[in-house]
Amino acid sequence: MDSGHAELSAYSVRLARPNDVAALARVHVASWHHAYRGIIAPHNLAHTNFSRSVSRFRGYFWGGGQSLSALHVLEGEGGVLGYVNSGLSNSRELGVRGEVYELYLHPDAHGRGCGRKLLSAGLWALSGRRLLPAVVWVLAENHPARRFYERMRGREIAQGEVTTGDQVLAKVAYVWVDYLPWPEWTL
Ligand SMILES: CC(C)(COP(=O)(O)OP(=O)(O)OC[C@H]1O[C@@H](n2cnc3c(N)ncnc32)[C@H](O)[C@@H]1OP(=O)(O)O)[C@@H](O)C(=O)NCCC(=O)NCCS
Repeated sequence: MDSGHAELSAYSVRLARPNDVAALARVHVASWHHAYRGIIAPHNLAHTNFSRSVSRFRGYFWGGGQSLSALHVLEGEGGVLGYVNSGLSNSRELGVRGEVYELYLHPDAHGRGCGRKLLSAGLWALSGRRLLPAVVWVLAENHPARRFYERMRGREIAQGEVTTGDQVLAKVAYVWVDYLPWPEWTL
C-alpha cells in the first residue's frame, strides 16, 4: 500500500444532487482544460467554460438525465473533486451494454487512487443495472488516461473518430466484462 492509497478513506462516492451543479462544472472545466491542452485546439477548448458546463449539468438534473444514467461524485474535505457518469451504451455494435460516458477528476486530485474509486463506482452502477460488459471511449492522444484504463484492466477493442469543433480526433475504446473490486477491498 502506498501513502497515496492510504488516504483513500478520506474520499467518498455518492450519487450527485442538483446542488452539486456548480461543483461539477468547476471539476469538468478544470479537468477538461488540463487533460486536453495540446490535444484540442485552444479555440475549440474555449467552448468548455463554466457557464456552459453549468447549463449542461442543469440539463442533466432537470431534463430527466437521472432516469437514463448514474452520475456519481467523489468528495474530499474540500468538496466535490471528481465525477463519473455511466449508463446505456451508445456503442452496442461493440457487443457491450453499458458505457462510462465521462470520468473527470480535478487536477489537484490526480494520482491518489480517486480515479480507480470513481471507475469502480461507475462499473458497479452499470453492473447493478445489468449493463455489463461496458465500454469507455478515450481520445487516442490522451495517453495518461489510456495508461490508467490499461492499469484498470480495460481491454482495447476498437478505434473511432470524434468531432470537436472543427477538429476530427482519433478515439480508442476500452471494455470491461466485469465490475472492478471496490478499492478498499484490495488494500
Ligand atoms: C485518468 C484519471 C481519471 C486517473 O485518475 P487518478 O486518480 O489519477 O488515477 P489513480 O490514482 O486512481 O490510479 C489508479 C492506477 O492507475 C495508475 N495510473 C494512473 N494514471 C497513470 C498514468 N498516467 N500512467 C501510468 N499509470 C497510471 C496508477 O499508478 C494506479 O496504479 P496502482 O493501482 O498500481 O497504484 C485522472 O487522471 C483524470 O481525471 N484525468 C483527466 C481527465 C481524463 O483524461 N479523463 C478520462 C477521459 S476518457
